[in-house]
Amino acid sequence: MKVGILGSGEVAQVLGAGFLKHGHAVMLGSRTPAKLADWTKKNPEATTGTFADAAQFGELLVLAVKGTAADEALQLAGKQKIAGKVVIDATNPIAPAPPVNGVLKYFTTLDDSLMERLQRSHPDARFVKAFNSVGSACMVDPKLKGGKPTMFICGNDDAARATVTGILDQFGWETSDLGRAEAARAIEPLCMLWCIPGFLRNDWVHAYKVLS
Ligand SMILES: NC(=O)c1ccc[n+]([C@@H]2O[C@H](COP(=O)([O-])OP(=O)(O)OC[C@H]3O[C@@H](n4cnc5c(N)ncnc54)[C@H](OP(=O)(O)O)[C@@H]3O)[C@@H](O)[C@H]2O)c1
Repeated sequence: MKVGILGSGEVAQVLGAGFLKHGHAVMLGSRTPAKLADWTKKNPEATTGTFADAAQFGELLVLAVKGTAADEALQLAGKQKIAGKVVIDATNPIAPAPPVNGVLKYFTTLDDSLMERLQRSHPDARFVKAFNSVGSACMVDPKLKGGKPTMFICGNDDAARATVTGILDQFGWETSDLGRAEAARAIEPLCMLWCIPGFLRNDWVHAYKVLS
């Protein structure tokens, strides 16, 4: 698949390399594509461009930008370029404020989520929340003592969630499909929980697993 990744940070770079490793074609997008020169040297099969270039390139898109800038990045990508496409939403609504005793602050409430806001402002895109509740080090082919971890996903389009489940299979995850977009109200705060051991004990290598 041709994958357009909106973002230039840690998540964009790790997922970009992961999609390449698993046989996809990748373009990373940034307001300043030149900042990705080092990443492109390590990943010469990939290309880089603006958010609009990456959105145009991708049959499937990944949104991997700062939560406060998610809407702006999608505007720069262009409504028509993302219309109809699956958009894997890895963002979290982290407020620009320091954590309190290791607990991040969010700019959303428990009755709304960032992904629902994005879905409302871009009704033709097919958002699927995924990859937001684990650190970048474990996103691709995680090797954890407890076995294969669980990725929680949601989104309004059944086929889009099935596509993302297929990608998660490739990336070494089991998927817990939590249905429609409102489930992002529960999935996004998992990042807060995931980060607490990191802020308190510098423990950043772990992931969720559902047991039954
Ligand atoms: N880091 C992790 O391990 C991790 C794990 C799970 C989920 N997440 C989530 O994934 C997302 C990306 O995280 P990250 O750590 O890779 O990077 P980040 O530092 O949160 O975000 C960097 C990206 O945000 C974009 N950006 C910042 N301000 C912008 C603006 N005003 N307009 C448009 N774009 C703007 C930057 O664009 P330019 O390229 O143009 O500078 C860059 O691509 C975040 O929402 C984060 O919460 C992170």
